Amino acid sequence: MQHYDFIVIGSGVAGLTFALKAAAHGRVAIITKRAPADSNTAWAQGGVACVWSTEDTFELHVQDTLEAGAGLCDEAAVRAIVGDGPARIRELIDLGVHFDERETTDGTGAHELDLGKEGGHSRRRVLHFRDTTGREIEHTLLAAVAANANITVLERHMAVDLITSAKLGFAAENRCLGVYVLNEDTGEVETFRTMRMVLATGGCGKVYLYTTNPNIATGDGVAIAWRIGATVANMEFIQFHPTCLFHPEARSFLVTEAVRGEGGILKDARGEAFMDKYHPLASLAPRDIVARAIDAEMKRTGEKCVYLDITHQPPDFVRERFPHVYETCLRYGIDITKQPIPVVPAAHYQCGGVRTDLDGATNIAGLYAIGEVACTGLHGANRLASNSLLEGLVLAHRACARSLRAEPHTPKSFEAYELSEWKSGNVQDIDELVVIYHNWDEIRRLMWDYVGIVRTDKRLQRAAARLRNLQAEIQEFYWNFKITTDLLELRNLATTAALIVDCALLRKESRGLHYTLDHPGTDETHLPRDTAMRRY
Ligand code: SIN
Repeated sequence: MQHYDFIVIGSGVAGLTFALKAAAHGRVAIITKRAPADSNTAWAQGGVACVWSTEDTFELHVQDTLEAGAGLCDEAAVRAIVGDGPARIRELIDLGVHFDERETTDGTGAHELDLGKEGGHSRRRVLHFRDTTGREIEHTLLAAVAANANITVLERHMAVDLITSAKLGFAAENRCLGVYVLNEDTGEVETFRTMRMVLATGGCGKVYLYTTNPNIATGDGVAIAWRIGATVANMEFIQFHPTCLFHPEARSFLVTEAVRGEGGILKDARGEAFMDKYHPLASLAPRDIVARAIDAEMKRTGEKCVYLDITHQPPDFVRERFPHVYETCLRYGIDITKQPIPVVPAAHYQCGGVRTDLDGATNIAGLYAIGEVACTGLHGANRLASNSLLEGLVLAHRACARSLRAEPHTPKSFEAYELSEWKSGNVQDIDELVVIYHNWDEIRRLMWDYVGIVRTDKRLQRAAARLRNLQAEIQEFYWNFKITTDLLELRNLATTAALIVDCALLRKESRGLHYTLDHPGTDETHLPRDTAMRRY
């Protein structure tokens, strides 16, 4: 059994930032199921929204966030996260993160940070490093982690289940005490003990057939927290990014919203701009509106995609500002300086998650959730673009401080809990891998077809029934066969999909990212408005 002062599950911006801060107070383990840089963060193109310019104010950023969130944001959370932004960004810069700069317009030759614009923002406020901001942040944080002797990174280790006092049969408060972890190299399940457990596992884009997310995004944190009785909220709000590259060989490639921020226009196959029919901000309307408009246009015209046109901007500017998008599209034969980019919406961000307070604390003592896995109330029914890296940074900082205040250093009562080692019993290797892959595909396709951008009660009920059968089958596998990463991910994927559907069925209105033909209006009388669920 291994014992750490802090255990962080996940290695994106939130988890790494937490680990670096916590390492000043004790030993930290980062548990990550692939290589450390395999995270949603590393794929983030746009940047970090933060009030930085003198032309911007906290109030404007707060109002933009509330507006995008369609009446469901927790205003206190929005104010706290927006207000903490500049301090957290300064820490990143001090750590060595580069953000793009530009010359000031006063003719002094001085430089300032170049601020990008994205949908729903009333000011330029997105700090970025070209179109690979996430990669820049991730690599800098990983370098700092590697240089820190108090942090142990356990890669190819996947959390199986959290260990709680309730599960062990202790009558006291339900406290998280540790985690069972599959070591993928040995195939053994190891037991880790801690007073401060932090979920920073990211989101669940792989629940859908088409997604902008990397393969790791299988809803692990939500599923393992759910299994021990953590409250999960607002899972129906899955954000579909309007512009994922449409190309048979290019699954999951995001074309950053910053392209629209720099003038990119959405057009149909005949080359006609269509977004001004849907919103006064046209191509820069909030994401839920753009994604639904594209869906409607594709259904109306029968076309397989729409087009994002940035060819009117100078080619040098496009190549310099969007090198990653430019080069990737070119590899697929599309020169974005000369041709419009074929795009479709794809699942992108989980706005709900494990319910936490403003310090990342969940309803289970000793368990924190930060980053995309958490539902702090910042995003409400629809996340404002580039608010998520900001939330990860701020919540990591606050959760670290809170965990130090709340969880005293190895108290006697903690030592008294005896943790049992994992028992695998007399199980065999899975005999038919095809069943896992089939179930995986079935979940992703049914979520895409029945629980997508536009929903109906009937389709949701159909999805719920299928998912119940699939979950029963997967559970049987889980008990009877030796666990593997594939099986654990499938189990988490099924749980997360079911939570999305169950939350969606509870919401009898259309709001933000949840749009249903059966309840097309927004119901302002229906309170409380979060769809919170707990297993026990
Ligand atoms: C993008 O670059 O469009 C993604 C940014 C985000 O999702 O916040």
